[in-house]
Amino acid sequence: MLEAKNLMVFFENALALNDLSIEVREGEIVAVLGSNSAGKTTLMNTLSGLIVDMKRKEDRKGGVRITVMGSLHFKGEEMLFMKPSERVKRGIVLSQERHPVFRDSDVMENLKIAGFLRSRAETKARIELVFKLFPVLKRLKGRRAGLLSGGEQQMLAIGIALVANPHLLLMDEPLLGLSPMLQADLARAIKEIRNEGITVLVTEQFARPILPIIDRGYVVENGMLVFQGTRQELAENPEVKAAYLGL
Ligand SMILES: Nc1ncnc2c1ncn2[C@@H]1O[C@H](COP(=O)(O)OP(=O)(O)O)[C@@H](O)[C@H]1O
Ligand SMILES: [Mg+2]
Repeated sequence: MLEAKNLMVFFENALALNDLSIEVREGEIVAVLGSNSAGKTTLMNTLSGLIVDMKRKEDRKGGVRITVMGSLHFKGEEMLFMKPSERVKRGIVLSQERHPVFRDSDVMENLKIAGFLRSRAETKARIELVFKLFPVLKRLKGRRAGLLSGGEQQMLAIGIALVANPHLLLMDEPLLGLSPMLQADLARAIKEIRNEGITVLVTEQFARPILPIIDRGYVVENGMLVFQGTRQELAENPEVKAAYLGL
């Protein structure tokens, strides 16, 4: 479904992604594990196209020089330099790190805004799906997003991404800052999202909370792939255990 090959991303002369290749097959939940600064967000931005926007902005104002190389195929189509909105139309949607939501708008408004690229009927159906996956959001639909708890805002951020009707949902550290109980809840929700027919690529610093739900995973250090395998292989690898499972 998605095939990224030999991705290289430089910020000036600093290498954020170093010859990184990953693949996601239809129906999978795939994890990208890596500690702080490993390159997880850069990877997600490269796959979603945000990096193209960042690059254009930096080029215009003469800021940090961003260089992107490699190839990126989604359903057979090359899209490494395609705009994010074009990728959304094709079904790649990113739920960004640290849940950006419209804080002064309520939950329902946030979800409706997210449907701007889709028809009203489709948006309505998607919002029903979000409420099915996250019943708490239905109860809080009239509440201002800025007043939600961290976990609720994270659910809303994922909900917003779901309204855009992804075939492939990219989630950048969705469990960041949540309690272990909320992490477990959210991990279960990610599995339900996959069961709705949505393929998932998720980044995390720690493997433990998502290990039970993933099919495969990649471990990235300093922008480089250091290990890849099935859930079982990740769970049994000594280095992965030590660095990402705290065993
Ligand atoms: N806009 C940017 N300008 C310069 N360097 C950046 C920028 N964004 C990320 N980097 C660098 O790229 C590397 C990877 O960062 P990032 O992708 O945010 O890692 P992670 O999400 O895994 O914490 C880091 O060394 C970071 O400092
Ligand atoms: Mg990050």
